[in-house]
Amino acid sequence: MAKSINLFLVLTLLSFVPLCFCEKTYGGYLYPQFYDRSCPKAKEIVRSVVAKAVAREARMAASLVRLHFHDCFVKGCDASILLDGTGSLISEKRSNPNRNSARGFEVIDEIKSALEKACPHTVSCADVMALAARDSIVLAGGPSWEVPLGRKDSRGASLSGSNNNIPAPNSTFQTLLTKFKLQGLDIVDLVTLSGCHTIGNARCVLFRQRLYNQSGNSKPDFTLDQSYAAQLRARCPRSGGDQNLFFLDFVSPTKFDNSYFKNLLSFKGLLNSDQVLVTKNQVSLELVKKYAGSNELFFEQFAKSMVKMGNISPLTGSRGEIRKNCRKINS
Ligand code: HEM
Ligand SMILES: *[C@@H]1O[C@H](CO)[C@@H](O)[C@H](O)[C@H]1NC(C)=O
Ligand SMILES: *[C@@H]1O[C@H](CO)[C@@H](O)[C@H](O)[C@H]1NC(C)=O
Repeated sequence: MAKSINLFLVLTLLSFVPLCFCEKTYGGYLYPQFYDRSCPKAKEIVRSVVAKAVAREARMAASLVRLHFHDCFVKGCDASILLDGTGSLISEKRSNPNRNSARGFEVIDEIKSALEKACPHTVSCADVMALAARDSIVLAGGPSWEVPLGRKDSRGASLSGSNNNIPAPNSTFQTLLTKFKLQGLDIVDLVTLSGCHTIGNARCVLFRQRLYNQSGNSKPDFTLDQSYAAQLRARCPRSGGDQNLFFLDFVSPTKFDNSYFKNLLSFKGLLNSDQVLVTKNQVSLELVKKYAGSNELFFEQFAKSMVKMGNISPLTGSRGEIRKNCRKINS
């Protein structure tokens, strides 16, 4: 009797093995087939809502990828960024990197409500963000990859984590690298993932310092091409216009390609944190050159680095919950 139960158990466990291309992470096991049985349409539902949103507004692809990044760097990829503030819960949406900046929350809501209709209480908001990020990159013309799944959602948020862990655009190279290393990411991930700035926008207030007073001596940043700087000054004045938008990659602002790296080599990176990748470190410079020379090498590593970022400290197993509404913890 006991023997046959054991045999049954072993066979049951074995039957799951081919389904699980498990990748060991700090928090547990994530794998692409996680919802294949519980919600077979999950990936297609996410993809179709993202496609509609990006058709309405191309920039949304950029905004959705950035949400996943800003989520993962704070307590791991646990959808903490999506929580609205209520009572004692202070939202990450109020942090410096997110305030007036993070966007795409309504699209995540739309995806989540479609998923709740198809398979109630099954797909986590953290997984929705990871899938939406991948779909956004594909829609913008970038590489595709299998997204490991099985994250749970947090029951809290961290305003200070958001302020401290997400690098600022005026960071030094060393600060950027340190903040990536704290997340288990290395210099290759830093340079490659910065390549995400091949799509999307940034506001004047976030790079103005470079145009007028980079080092407190009333001089512009001389690592910025001076005719490009003059163009930027036209719409980013010394004062005012803080919220004016600029393309992170002026060559092909909605296309995911390697022109970001080419821009850096011609000193036309928009943010200080972009330009330092070629001016402050030899290893990083070599990577920029490699990607500027080959879209293919960029795409290949980008997919790997996105998976690595998506694996930062997920909540798995009995930790965390599947939120019913991405903006609120379950009551
Ligand atoms: C290396 C450190 C990084 C810094 C300092 C940084 C900083 C910024 C800043 C300041 C903006 C503009 C925000 C605004 O105007 O309000 C921005 C936009 C953006 N960032 Fe980054 N970022 C970094 C890395 C990344 C990574 C790793 C990704 C993706 C994996 C990413 C994706 C994006 C995208 C797509 C946008 C445009 C968003 C939109 O148009 O809505 N960034 N980033
Ligand atoms: C970056 O900007 C912030 C806010 O303006 C400022 O407090 C900080 O000192 C700056 N950091 C660097 C490295 O320039
Ligand atoms: C430039 O920055 C320095 C130091 O932050 C400041 O003292 C100075 O007033 C600034 N100059 C201008 C023209 O804004």
